[in-house]
Amino acid sequence: MGPQRAPSTSLVLCVVLFGLDCALGHVALVYPPARKYDLDFLDNSRTKPPCGMPRGTIKTTLLEGSKFNVTWHLGYPHKGGFKIQLLDQLERPVLDLTPTIQGSEFVSNDATAQSYHVQLPTDFTCENCTLRLLRQAQEWGPNYKFWSCADVDIKPRKYAADTEGTS
Ligand SMILES: *[C@@H]1O[C@H](CO)[C@@H](O)[C@H](O)[C@H]1NC(C)=O
Ligand SMILES: *[C@@H]1O[C@H](CO)[C@@H](O)[C@H](O)[C@H]1NC(C)=O
Repeated sequence: MGPQRAPSTSLVLCVVLFGLDCALGHVALVYPPARKYDLDFLDNSRTKPPCGMPRGTIKTTLLEGSKFNVTWHLGYPHKGGFKIQLLDQLERPVLDLTPTIQGSEFVSNDATAQSYHVQLPTDFTCENCTLRLLRQAQEWGPNYKFWSCADVDIKPRKYAADTEGTS
């Protein structure tokens, strides 16, 4: 790509919506893929809960009991930690996928972490659910958080056998 490359859609949208405070780069889920647009400046002070972004057309199918690597883009190692949770189809938190460590719901042993290996419970299926990443930025306030959501279906194991011939 040359120096004339057009700015990305998300950057343009960001500038339109929020002015020039957009080049910093913050937090956005990579896997499962974030709701479109995968803007990375969505936060709980300027955008609407629970995700800052309505549902779109991108949806990832996961299997009950499966293990996978949740990955995200992190533009800057903000102070604090992260938390990954599942929201039900009405976008209410139903399950935390990260542990509570020493009273903190946020995993904060590595400020540059951009992945976390999770395991879904067996016997937990969920259609039209959402995986949400919360990332603190404590230097901007004790309750300040970025959020990024990915829409998911968590299907029974049987589904994989039926559709892919795998177990
Ligand atoms: C998860 O993904 C990250 C980034 O791609 C990689 O560095 C890490 O090794 C992966 N972890 C596991 C357990 O697969
Ligand atoms: C999930 O969402 C799709 C599309 O909006 C809808 O057709 C389907 O009925 C929903 N499933 C459940 C279990 O609500």
